[in-house]
Amino acid sequence: MTVKEEQVINQEATKSKINKYLKLRKESLLGGGEERIKAQHEKGKYTARERILLLMDPESFVELGGYVTHQKTDFGMNKKKFLGDGVITGYGRVNGRLVYVYAQDFTVLGGSLGNAHAKKIVHIMELALKTGAPIVGFNDSGGARIQEGVDSLAGYGEIFFHNVLASGVVPQISVIVGPSAGGAVYSPALTDFIIMTKETSHMFVTGPSVVKTVTGEDISFEELGGSTIHTLKSGVAHFDGADEKESIELIKKILSYLPSNNLEDPPVVTPTDDKARTSDLLNSIIPDDSKIPYDMKTVISEVVDHGEFLEVQEKWAKNIIIGFARLNGYPVGIVANQPAVLAGALDSEASIKGAKFVRLCDSFNIPIITFVDVPGFLPGVDQEWKGIIRNGAKLLYAYCEATVPKIAVVTRKAFGGAYIVMASKHLRTDVNLAWPTAEIAVMGSEAAVNIIFRRELQSAEDPIAKQKEIEAGYREKFYNPYAAASYGYIDDVILPSETRPKLIEALWPLLTKREERFPKKHGNIPL
Ligand code: HXC
Repeated sequence: MTVKEEQVINQEATKSKINKYLKLRKESLLGGGEERIKAQHEKGKYTARERILLLMDPESFVELGGYVTHQKTDFGMNKKKFLGDGVITGYGRVNGRLVYVYAQDFTVLGGSLGNAHAKKIVHIMELALKTGAPIVGFNDSGGARIQEGVDSLAGYGEIFFHNVLASGVVPQISVIVGPSAGGAVYSPALTDFIIMTKETSHMFVTGPSVVKTVTGEDISFEELGGSTIHTLKSGVAHFDGADEKESIELIKKILSYLPSNNLEDPPVVTPTDDKARTSDLLNSIIPDDSKIPYDMKTVISEVVDHGEFLEVQEKWAKNIIIGFARLNGYPVGIVANQPAVLAGALDSEASIKGAKFVRLCDSFNIPIITFVDVPGFLPGVDQEWKGIIRNGAKLLYAYCEATVPKIAVVTRKAFGGAYIVMASKHLRTDVNLAWPTAEIAVMGSEAAVNIIFRRELQSAEDPIAKQKEIEAGYREKFYNPYAAASYGYIDDVILPSETRPKLIEALWPLLTKREERFPKKHGNIPL
C-alpha cells in the first residue's frame, strides 16, 4: 500500500467503508461458502471461479456484476442472498483474444437460475454482441430457481432470445460441467458447440424420476443424459472432455479456428508445414475393388497442416467426418464421407451433422473443403420413415446456401443425388477436383445394369456372364472422372499424392471471394 493510500485509511469513515468493501469482496469470492466449495471439489468439479481462471489468460479476467443479488423474499429467500446470485460473469483474454464468459456457481442455491442471475448472463451476451467477441458459458445448475416461479422462466426466455440474436454473429460455446436439466438445456442447444465433461455432466429435458413416473422406464442419470449418450447416440454434444481441464482445453482449441465475429476472417497462423508437401501414401490408398473401404481420416491427416485435425462430433454419425484443420496456416472446415462406415452413405443423422457444420463455417467465413466418396443416400424403410428426404435436404440446402470458398475432391464414388449434394459444381462449388480413381455416375454398376438391361439379362443364355460383361462396359464408361470433367463439372484431375499442394493452390485466390445472393429475410431450411 502506498503512503497516500495509508493516509486515506487513517480517516475513520473511509477506513470503515474500505473494510466493508474488502469484506464483501472476500465474501463474493467464496460463493456459497467453504463447505460447499469442499463438496464441489469432492465431486471432482472445479468451482465457477476456478473454471474461469483456467480458461482465461493469467490476470486477464474482469468480473462484472459481482454485487448483484436477487430481490426475492418468498420461501425464505430473504435469508438466502449471495453476492453474484449464483453466476460469475465477465470478460478476459483467451490466447490474447477477447472472450466473454459466464460460469454458473453450483455452490450458490445449486447454480439455479433466477431472474437476477439471468440478467447478468444477458448483460455479457449483449456486450459480446456489441464488441464482436465469443461467448463461453459454463453450465452447472439445478435449472429454473423454483422459488422465483415464472420470473426465473422469464430469465431463461431472455437468454434463449439472446442466444438466437448471437447465432451467426459471434461464436457461442457451452460447456456442461454439472447438471443441465429441464428447459435449461435449450440455451446450450442454441449455441454452436456443446462440450460435456465425462461422468460429472448430465443433460436432459426431464430427469430420471419424471421419466419413471411418466413412462415407467428405470434409468440412471448417466444412461439418460451423460456424455457418452450425447456424443454417441443423440448427437447433442460435439465434444467430451475426460475431465474439466480437458473440456477447457477444448474450448481454446475450438476458438483457435474461429474468428471473433462474423465480420472478421478466421485467425491465420504463420505456416510451418511445407505447402508443396506431397504424400505417396495417397497414391495407393484406394483399393482396387471399389467395395473395399479405406479410412478417409488418413486422407485428411495426410493433406492438412501437420496432420492436425480437430474432429467435431467424432463418435456420432461416423459415416460423415466434420472438423477443423489448417491449410498453409489458413483455417478450413473439412466435410468428408467416411467409406469405412456404412460405405460412406448419407443417412439422416449424417446429413444433419454435415448441414449444421457447413452452416457454421459459412456463418464464420471459414472455407469448406469436401472430400467425396459417397455411394448414395442410405436405402431402407427405417431411413425413409425417419425422413431421409427432409434430412438429406438439409445438407443440400446448406451447401447451396454457403457462399464461403468451397473446394471439393472426389476420391472415389460420387453417385446419384449424393454426388450433387456433396459440394458438386452445380451447387456453386468454386473448385472441383477429382482423383483418377473417381467414379462419377448416377448409380453403382450392379444396380444400373439391373435397371437398364433388365430385358437383355432375362433373355440371356447365361445371365450372370451377361451381367458381368455389361457391368464392365458401364464401369469403363462411368467409373472415371473424365466424363464429368468433359462437361466442366470437374475442374481438374489430380494425382492423389498432390492433393495438399493442389488444395493450397485452389484456396488462396478464393480468400477474397465475394458472392451475393438475392436479398431475403431468411430462407426456409427444411428442418
Ligand atoms: C432452487 C435448487 C434447485 C432449483 C437445486 N437447488 N436445484 N434451488 N431451484 N432448481 C438447491 C437445493 O435445494 C440445494 O440447496 C442445493 O441447490 C444443492 O442441491 P442438492 O440437491 O443438494 O444437490 P445434488 O444432490 O448434487 O443434486 C443436484 C440436482 C438436484 C440433481 C440438480 O438439486 C435437482 O434435481 N434439482 C432440481 C432440478 C430441477 O428439477 N430443476 C427444475 C427443472 S425445470 P440446499 O440449501 O438445500 O443445499 C426447469 C425449467 C426451465 O429448469 C425452463 C426453461 C424454459
